[in-house]
Order: sequence, then C-alpha cells, then structure tokens
Amino acid sequence: MDRFEIRGGTRLAGRLTIKGSKNAALPLLAAALLTDEAVTLRDVPDIADIGNMERLLAEVGCSVARQRAGDLEEAGGVFTVKATDLSACHARYDIVRTMRASICVLGPMLARRGYAKVSMPGGCSIGERPVDMHLRGLEALGADITLDAGDIIARIPRAHGKAGRLRGARVFLGGPFGSTVLGTANVMSAATLAEGTTVIECAACEPEIVNLADLLNAMGARIEGAGSPRITVHGVARLGGADLRVIPDRIEAGTYMCAAAITGGDLTLDNCPVDALMAHMDLLRHAGVTFVFDASGDPMRATCRVSMERGPLGGRGLRPVQATTQPHPGFPTDLQAQLMAVLCLAEGNSVITERIFTERFLHVAELSRMGAQLFRQGPTVIVSGVRSLRGAPVMASDLRASACLVLAGLAAEGVTTVNRVYHLDRGYERMDERLCSLGAQIERISDREEATLGAPGGVA
Ligand code: EPU
Repeated sequence: MDRFEIRGGTRLAGRLTIKGSKNAALPLLAAALLTDEAVTLRDVPDIADIGNMERLLAEVGCSVARQRAGDLEEAGGVFTVKATDLSACHARYDIVRTMRASICVLGPMLARRGYAKVSMPGGCSIGERPVDMHLRGLEALGADITLDAGDIIARIPRAHGKAGRLRGARVFLGGPFGSTVLGTANVMSAATLAEGTTVIECAACEPEIVNLADLLNAMGARIEGAGSPRITVHGVARLGGADLRVIPDRIEAGTYMCAAAITGGDLTLDNCPVDALMAHMDLLRHAGVTFVFDASGDPMRATCRVSMERGPLGGRGLRPVQATTQPHPGFPTDLQAQLMAVLCLAEGNSVITERIFTERFLHVAELSRMGAQLFRQGPTVIVSGVRSLRGAPVMASDLRASACLVLAGLAAEGVTTVNRVYHLDRGYERMDERLCSLGAQIERISDREEATLGAPGGVA
C-alpha cells in the first residue's frame, strides 16, 4: 500500500485544471444501461472509483472503450459505454463492497431490463449509509423488491405474461438528513422509461443531479426541474445514445482552495465550478481567503484565483468560522474534513457541525496526533486554533479524511506520513503530482519499492 511522505511548510503557488467530477461521472456511466446505443462521456477523471465502475459495467454486460487524458492539465479522458448483453444483471458483492456508489446501476438496469440484482452495500467508514430511500422510491414506481443472500433483487412485475414497464408516480425522497443524492439519481433514471409521469418531491438539488438530467435529456428523456427539490419526469418508451461533458469536480476544487488557504498560497484554478461552491467559498472568505474570478463567464467553468496572505506576526492570519454541513447549496459534507484542517491554524475557536453523516470524524483523532486542539461532542467539533501543527505518521480509512491529513501535512512542521493513500487515489487524480507541481514536497512510497530497496542481497 502506498503512502505519502510530506515535508510541510512550503507556500503553494501556480495553476491547476480541475478534473471532471467523480460523483457526477459515476451515475452518468450507470445511465448508459438505459439504452443499447453508445453513450460517450468526456472529462472523466482517471481515479480508482472510475476503474471500479468500468469493471462493474463490464460485468453487467457493457462494452467500455476508454481513452485516457494526454496530460495532467486536461480535465479527464473519454469513455464510450454500450450495453450489449442484457442478460448479465448481477452487480456482485466483490465490486459493490469496494465502491458503495455501485448502487447507482440499480435504477437504470431495472428500468431497461425489468430485473436487477445488486449486492446490498454495507456500512462504510463514514457511517451506516442505508439505501432504504432508493428502494422505497423504486417500489413507488411499481418495482417488486426482495432481499436474498445479501443481494437486492428488483423486478418489474410482468403484465399479461409480457415484460412490463415501471409506472409513473409521486415519490417522496426526504429522509432524516434531507434528501438522498444517489437515491434521486436512481429514481430519476428509472422514471425516464416508466409509463406516465413521475414527480420526485424532496429531490436532491446537487449539481451532479443536474448533470445527470442533462445526459438523460440528451438521450431523449423528458425531465424538468433538476436542481430544484421537485423533479418531473415524463416517461418515454426508449432512450438513445448521447455525448456529454462531465462537470468539474467541486470537491476537488474545494480541496485545492483549502490547500491555498492552509499554506498561505496563491493558486489559479481553471475549469473551476465556483457556482457550485458558494457556501464553501463564503466560509473561506470569512476565514480570510481572497477569491478573484470573472463573474461574466460560465460560473461552472471559471478561472478562479485563490490566495491567502500570511498574518503580520508570522502566523497564518486565518480567522475562525462556524460551519454546518447541509445538502446543496449548503456547505458540503465532502469538504468538512478539509475545512477542519485549515481551521486548526485559525486564530481562535471554530465550530464545525456535521449534519449529513454524523459519524464522519475519522480525521479528528489523526489531526490531534499532529497537535491540533479538537473537542468533539456528538456531531459538533470545536476547533481551537493552534500556532502550528507538527508532522506525524497518520492514517484515515476515508477519502476526504485522507485529503484533510494531506492538507495538514502541507502546513505542518517536519515530515507527515499519510498511510494507505489508496483512499485518496479513489477520488483525487494524482494528488501528489499535482500538489508537487505547485511547490509541495511530497514523495509517494510504495511497498513494492520498499521491498526492492530493503531486500537483503537485492541487486538494482
Ligand atoms: N440516507 C438514508 N437512506 C437512504 C439514503 C441515504 O437514510 O436510502 C441518508 C444517509 O445515511 C445520509 C443522507 O441520507 O445521512 C445523505 O446520503 P446520500 O444518499 O445523499 O449520500 P450518497 O448519495 O450515498 C453521495 C456522494 C457522497 C456524499 C453524499 C452527500 C456519490 C458517489 N457519493 O452519497 O460522496 O458525501 O452524496 O452529499 O455521489 C465522497 O465523495 O467522498 C462521498 C462520500
């Protein structure tokens, strides 16, 4: 397993192109299951979760052609997916356990094939993460759902001996923590091929849902209202192929904004979705970060300069803030850990409350090992700013918590070793190389290299 050795203390400066969004690309790829024509997606990031989705699609009967991006400054590669074998309908535990987002094949496969078998995702390091709302939504459309040997089995009942279709319905997707993003993706995708009209109330408003609706509409679907809490889907009999660009990754962009903040840096981010980052940028602005972008251009693909002046006394001049995670357009849970790293160095007490995944605090104990002063009570953490963090060996078994530790390492005195960076590789394309191109000092060390170096009597 690879790890990063980070020598902290360098002020980051330079330019980066934000890659295509992981969380948009995953349901977009799954949507190709709704048609037998080819679906082409551009700006798909080269990360481990996309590789997992490629394997999953192959397993459920799709051919996938992939052309990787030529260099680090392209937003991503091109994927063409074509569903060819409609009889392979089982998303097995082997893949689902490596990537929870595998659940987003359920709605498309059910709607097109009348049958889908998807291993029930278990809990993960950020909490329980049930899928009850996905299942209730599909049941409201007429699906018959059972659980067998850990697999969700979803069927459209046959009508008069013939394969039937889902039926349009009113579906409510509100839960204890607001809506569900992948649940909305599943129900909206499935409803495109239903008979009649579906109205989804309390739909997720995330930009990834808008990107998915854009693809489905380009395939011939009739969806209105995506991006608002009420989505209307007028069902059609069939969908065709399409070609679409994945939106830039707001969480990757937000993470690099934090990298500028924590190192007193000056970064220019191209292809930056400022429109999807209002809450995060507002918090960072209150903390003392400056943003400059051209407001007259496309706000989902802006060029945004992010800079942070050091304080007059050698401190970082960061001010404390209060942040609560919320569904979009509120402050996203996927940036909570990274913001916490920044606030560890603010001059005063910040308060962070996690309202989406109330146990998503794996980074708290690890940041404390680096000298952060953090006090957790239930879903709230008081971050009492310190003058400096100190490098230490750390590890977190969650993607965003690992990103938080890298950020802390960039600002810490001495060397920070972030172990098990495969979590980072799931969601950030070559984060080490990209940060190094901005002046960071990070070395990726893989066990393989170490084994060669350390092998007794080994020859070069
Ligand atoms: N929930 C339920 N029942 C359900 C579904 C969700 O109770 O059937 C609860 C969840 O436990 C959570 C809340 O509802 O408390 C919201 O969960 P949601 O379903 O919206 O999460 P998700 O769709 O499974 C996506 C992202 C996550 C991101 C969340 C919230 C993808 C692939 N994943 O997950 O991204 O944190 O939305 O915005 O889109 C990440 O990228 O690191 C990541 C975890």
